[in-house]
Order: sequence, then structure tokens, then C-alpha cells
Amino acid sequence: VNFLVCLVAEKLEKLEALLRPRLARRPVMDRTIIYPWTVLESRIKVKRYPTFKGQVLNGQQLWELVEGLEANELLYYTHLLTGYIGSVSFLSTVLEVVNKLRSVNPKLTYVCDPVMGDEGKLYVPQELVAVYREKVVPVASMLTPNQFEAELLTNSRIESEKDGREACNLLHAAGPSMVVITSININGNLLLIGSHQKEKGLPAEQFKIVIPKIPAYFTGTGDLTTALLLGWSNKYPDNLEKAAELAVSSLQALLRRTISDYKSAGHDPKSTSLEIRLIQSQDDIRNPEIKFRAERY
Ligand code: ATP
Ligand code: MG
Ligand code: NA
Ligand code: MG
Repeated sequence: VNFLVCLVAEKLEKLEALLRPRLARRPVMDRTIIYPWTVLESRIKVKRYPTFKGQVLNGQQLWELVEGLEANELLYYTHLLTGYIGSVSFLSTVLEVVNKLRSVNPKLTYVCDPVMGDEGKLYVPQELVAVYREKVVPVASMLTPNQFEAELLTNSRIESEKDGREACNLLHAAGPSMVVITSININGNLLLIGSHQKEKGLPAEQFKIVIPKIPAYFTGTGDLTTALLLGWSNKYPDNLEKAAELAVSSLQALLRRTISDYKSAGHDPKSTSLEIRLIQSQDDIRNPEIKFRAERY
């Protein structure tokens, strides 16, 4: 994962260097380099992007890519990570991909970020919820829902740490041995709850990490959290606590840099959704200083 992140970062850095002269003396932020600042500023009220372009890949098209890989004997993978998926057709094909990859490598680790919504709002079609709950959760090795997603998957309300831990237990019973609820809102703080059931039938080892909430709205934190958890738990397979401490520490260093870069560029970080400073945070991603400690239950 680090490798992949750095590879992308390197490409973006080159692109940034290429575009910089055209942007005169305007401050350059990741991804926003293709947005004039006026557009960035117009997002102040809408929070999300005003529009987006491109094509949505459907399930059939995904399957064709898999067939192409298979024809070239390129289907051996150690990990599969999925994030936002917008249709039942695509999600069903992802399930077929998991089966296919496991037929080549039975040890494949499937890390699933069941992206469905946030803060009580669903942003995928309602039908996806049942497919995640009934078909995807059972085949996932690691699951990284936020509070709302964990509620949807367990048909429960999460209003306390205890509720969060119980939701993790329900999810273990349904399939994945590793569950990380990436954030629960409690008393103005964010709480990450991790849970590792090392053997079926045994109680899960559970922990929390308290994360002071920064008063700003970031895009892409969920994606990065799941990617970092995959990377670090691959390095420390028996120590989800350590993997989570490393992931949170990297992410928080990156968020602090994001806030301070926006401030130096003359923007109020509270007034817009912030593009995370991924490239500039390479060292924090590769080699984080552990500042956030897990507390075992
Ligand atoms: P996304 O909406 O990007 O999919 P998510 O809802 O899946 O995100 P969250 O649980 O909200 O994921 O955030 C993931 C991590 O990002 C949290 O564990 C936390 O470390 C960090 N994070 C996000 N927002 C903030 C914030 N305002 N202050 C501090 N940390 C934050
Ligand atoms: Mg969130
Ligand atoms: Na998440
Ligand atoms: Mg998410």
C-alpha cells in the first residue's frame, strides 16, 4: 500500500511541477490543481464537488477486465481492497471477483470498506445495504465501517463504546475476523474501535483509540484509513492494535499538515471541505511517529 501510495504521489508530483507555471503564484494543493480557485471557493457551501465527469464502470465491464487478467495468468493476489461501490450489479460482480481470486489464492485477504453513508445519511442505493449485510460481510477478512455503516450492517444503534464493541462482535459472528469501526462520535471526540477475533469461537481482543475531533471536514480520510490499515496489518498480522496506532498516527499528522497548509494559503479551514495533503505527507505515511495509543478493553 505504501508503495502504491508513493507511486501515485510521485506521478502527481510530476504533474504538479508541470502545471505550476500555468497557475502563476497561486498556492497549489493536491487534486485541486485541476480546479481554479474560484471553483474551490464555490464549494464552500456545497461541501462536496459541484459536479464530476467520467464513466461509471458496470459489473460486466469489471468482469471483462478480470477475464483479461486471467488470460494473462495475472490473477494471483494476496489482498483485495474495495471502497465506494454505487450499484448492486457492480457489488455482485465484486463478489464473483472475490471467489475467483480465492480460487487462485485461498489465502487472499479481502479488506472491505462498506461505504454506504455517514452521519445518518445513505449515499448509495438502499438495495446495497442488504447485499453488503448478507453477501459481502460473510466473505470479508477485514471490515472498516464508520459508525453509521456499522449500525446498518448490524441493525443496531451505536450510542456508546459498549454498543460499538457489541456491533464488532455481531460482525465477527457474521464473518470477518478483523473489524475496525473507524470513528464513533462520542462527547465531541472521535473514537476508533478495533476488534480482532483470532479464532472462531474465542472472544475478540478489543481496543479503542481516542482521536480529538478537528473542527474541519476532510474528504478522503475513510479511504486512506482503510488503505493504511491494510498496509500495516499486513506487516503486523497478529497486532491489529499496532496497525491501528500507526494508521491513526499517519493520518492525524497528515490532517494537521492539511489544516496548516490551508491556513498558510489564506483559507479558512472551517469553511470548505479540505483536500488531504497526501503527497506532502509521504514521510508520515511511510514512517509515522506513534502519537496515538490504543487502550485495550
Ligand atoms: P469517508 O467519509 O472519507 O468515507 P469515513 O466516514 O468512512 O470517511 P471516518 O471514520 O469518518 O471515515 O474517518 C476516518 C478517520 O479519519 C478517523 O478514524 C479519524 O482518524 C480521521 N478523521 C476524519 N475526520 C476527522 C476530524 N474532523 N478530526 C480528526 N480526525 C478525523
Ligand atoms: Mg466519517
Ligand atoms: Na470507514
Ligand atoms: Mg467511508
